[in-house]
Amino acid sequence: MENSKENSRFSCYNGIIELTGEWNYMKTNQISRRAFISQAIMASGSLCLPDIVPSSVFGANAPSRRVALGHIGVGGQGGGLLQGFLGVAQSQSVAVCDPIKDRRETAAQQVEQRYGKEKDSGAYKGCQIYRDFRDLLARSDIDAVVIATPDHWHVPIALAAVRSGKDVYVEKPLGLSMEQDKALRAAVHLHGAIFQYGTQQRCFNTHCAFACELVRNGYIGSLKAIHVIAPDGATGGMAKPEPVPEGLDYDLWLGPAPMVPYCKDRVFGGGRWYIYDYAIGFLGGWGAHPLDIAHWGYPHIPVEYEGTGLVPTEGLFDTVVNWDVRGRYASGVEFTLKTGGDKTTFVGTEGWIAPSRGGISAEPESLLKIKIKPDEIHLLQDNNHYRNFAQAVLTRKAPASNIDSAVQSDFMSHLSDIAIRQRRKIHWDPVKETIVGNDAAARMMTRAMRSPWAL
Ligand SMILES: NC(=O)c1ccc[n+]([C@@H]2O[C@H](COP(=O)([O-])OP(=O)(O)OC[C@H]3O[C@@H](n4cnc5c(N)ncnc54)[C@H](O)[C@@H]3O)[C@@H](O)[C@H]2O)c1
Repeated sequence: MENSKENSRFSCYNGIIELTGEWNYMKTNQISRRAFISQAIMASGSLCLPDIVPSSVFGANAPSRRVALGHIGVGGQGGGLLQGFLGVAQSQSVAVCDPIKDRRETAAQQVEQRYGKEKDSGAYKGCQIYRDFRDLLARSDIDAVVIATPDHWHVPIALAAVRSGKDVYVEKPLGLSMEQDKALRAAVHLHGAIFQYGTQQRCFNTHCAFACELVRNGYIGSLKAIHVIAPDGATGGMAKPEPVPEGLDYDLWLGPAPMVPYCKDRVFGGGRWYIYDYAIGFLGGWGAHPLDIAHWGYPHIPVEYEGTGLVPTEGLFDTVVNWDVRGRYASGVEFTLKTGGDKTTFVGTEGWIAPSRGGISAEPESLLKIKIKPDEIHLLQDNNHYRNFAQAVLTRKAPASNIDSAVQSDFMSHLSDIAIRQRRKIHWDPVKETIVGNDAAARMMTRAMRSPWAL
């Protein structure tokens, strides 16, 4: 369908776009949210976007429609996500992007193998390879992107994607700073984007949903405490400068992080997880999973945090290891975050329940046999996190792990990390969403970005 600026009429006022004339024709034909937004921008001549766009305008439930996906960051986890999405009938991967040449080429080959046989029918037109995510995002035929870069790139790329009208699947942890989390949340809501957080146990580990349902429906009595454990971080890393290997665009890999001489451990070793310029370490990187479950079972975050942890001063890695954080929710519920495994334990007046990725335990054990009644709170949406995202893009309904809970659980990691680094108790105002009574700690809610990158 031809749809130019001339034959559509949009007027934009206070974030609401009014549609007249040719819009009626468009409405009865399927257009994507992305196409709608870009046409709206063109027509209004501004970046004024609607807060909410009704799903009905997208012809979302058409059974034949597949979500066109771009994959940004196809290393270890991104490669796994690619395999996962190649198995989802509701989406088709059409582009891959990575500043490491052989990774993007390998990923494209995998896509080609999966869909190659659909070329004859025209259902698959090929997989485009990109070094720079901005070129991928410029494509108007891509509906959504899967972002699995190192942490320092999550929010800058997700923001650019959402602003270009795309939906986003973003790996955990969310932002390098709390300011980044807030910026992405605002953009997701402003643009009406679908956001799925890469905390995949919300779907794949169905016992996690069950545990949270037990807590939310009062089966362990009144909640007294939540204890979270996550695997420890690491010390070490060799900082000796080395030549940048062929096929790596190191400047693009660093992006908003400081320019420093290349060494292998930054990019190909643990640096991507354990260097503070790129991450806050496993406290947030792994902690994101059990903290997400804590927030799913009890959708609040503590208002006080204090704790200890080792911040290494030797070697390349400088994120916290061996942490021991204690906190308190406004309700008086106790909170702890420690190292030593992967588990979220909810303790109530009538028993406790402890889901982890590997399983679930409870006291009394009879809790595990409870059937949640139809009129009680149910949390499980799907047992496949990737399909759940594709389905959400099509239906415009919030997926299992949405932006609001992602931001809150990521705040818990950042606040714990800040309390450790400040070596004193910090207080969180959940209404103003700021640290109160400690200016130095409050300043740690933001991070500088290397020019020209900005939020
Ligand atoms: N959900 C989970 O269970 C899980 C498991 C492992 C890792 N992760 C997360 O996945 C992310 C990636 O971790 P990883 O271990 O796969 O790291 P990785 O280094 O193996 O992969 C990251 C990839 O992103 C690429 N990249 C860097 N800058 C980019 C840019 N500007 N544009 C496009 N690609 C870029 C890198 O070149 C690399 O290939 C991390 O945020 C990590 O926390 C999640």
